[in-house]
Amino acid sequence: MDTRPIGVFDSGIGGLTVVKEIMKILPYEDIVYFGDTARVPYGSKSQETITKFAKQNSRFLLSKDVKAIVIACNTASAFALDDVNAEFEVPVLGVIKPGANAAVRATKTGRIGIIGTEGTVNSKAYEKAIKKLFKEVEIFALPCPLFVPLVEEGWADRQVSYMVAQEYLEPLKKAEIDTLVMGCTHYPILTKVIGEIMGDEVTLINPAEETAIELKSILFENGLQNTTKRKPEYSYFVSDNTEKFARVGSNFLNKEIENISKIEIEKY
Ligand code: DGL
Repeated sequence: MDTRPIGVFDSGIGGLTVVKEIMKILPYEDIVYFGDTARVPYGSKSQETITKFAKQNSRFLLSKDVKAIVIACNTASAFALDDVNAEFEVPVLGVIKPGANAAVRATKTGRIGIIGTEGTVNSKAYEKAIKKLFKEVEIFALPCPLFVPLVEEGWADRQVSYMVAQEYLEPLKKAEIDTLVMGCTHYPILTKVIGEIMGDEVTLINPAEETAIELKSILFENGLQNTTKRKPEYSYFVSDNTEKFARVGSNFLNKEIENISKIEIEKY
């Protein structure tokens, strides 16, 4: 039993899709969230830069006495998980391995699609994680960079998102995949659009759900869970503009976000 909060970070708002799943599956845990809104996007930056950012973000969360860190960003998980894990003592968990596990469980034909940022796709992190579990698999990976601004604009349900998705997803339809990993924090907000285009025969994987499940097992295995039945505390920190985070973030969590503070991340 450990009453310290769980630390979660992302390049900005998107990691709230992971927070939402953690809130569902671990309803008594306090959460400290950091969104690096001053330095977003991570998806187009180098591994060196992302590793530096991920370490700073982790140091900030540890200054809030977190008992575990969730890297709720696909790009940062792809580039920096091993380095962060090596540097800090608390359990550190990314979203790639849980997403890969779910994809391998779901596929029947062994034809898996992956969509994510350029960084995530180029890193081949999902591909490697999936191939470790299932060698004969065929992977079709594509970056879909316009999905992030569409979601942030609150346009997930508009026609424009449908048109952009149709354009991006056409090669994956042709590839006849049966499983598609939504390998970017923002993409689960587009589940309806992506699902309509890909059709019922394609299983969509949201790594956020699987990450929350894995976090729960890690907490219980290490005696770190908080099972006291009480209202949990959620606090949010950003490195820029708190208003945009509150406005757009409420669409991610489907509820108002309070308790947001701005911090100087470069100090950590
Ligand atoms: N959070 C990022 C990810 O999941 C998407 C946004 C960005 O490029 O920073 O890869």
